[in-house]
Amino acid sequence: MVPEKAQYYIDQLQMLKHPEGGWYKETYRSFGSISEPDCFDGKRSYSTGIYFLLTKDNFSAFHRIKSDEMWHFYAGDGLTIHELKTDGSYVKHQLGLDLENGEQPQLVIAAKSWFASEVKKGESWCLVGCTVSPGFDFEDFEMADSATLGENFAPMIGLINRLTRN
Ligand code: GUN
Repeated sequence: MVPEKAQYYIDQLQMLKHPEGGWYKETYRSFGSISEPDCFDGKRSYSTGIYFLLTKDNFSAFHRIKSDEMWHFYAGDGLTIHELKTDGSYVKHQLGLDLENGEQPQLVIAAKSWFASEVKKGESWCLVGCTVSPGFDFEDFEMADSATLGENFAPMIGLINRLTRN
């Protein structure tokens, strides 16, 4: 069930269901674009931004994109973002305003990292922003397959199985 306040933001901000889980609304797409940036197939906007909302009974499944993604905290509870980096390392990020307990109001997930997110244990929902440059295109968006990701990050198999849908 979606908490009342989260439903308020979903309705007011006209958010749509995201294939990775959660809700989103694109809020910015630069008028300008760049043709064939490195590793991209075709033209991309210089930059894009979204609102993203996640509730406790849902999660954003492991996926990757080709741009760095900057996350911004807006409202609600803290968000944990799990990053599996191209060098094989794992980083647990905490987005939020509880600075004494390791949360950060902004953070960056590196281009090509696999990442997944969930509302912190025992908490309810959160509203954040995500900006990327070059801009987001579903062409560059890849959902993880748990078996393949598990082969590359064997020590993280429990986390991967919990936060994938394929
Ligand atoms: N636009 C649609 N989906 C996404 C996403 O997952 N991230 C960003 N930054 N923009 C999007």
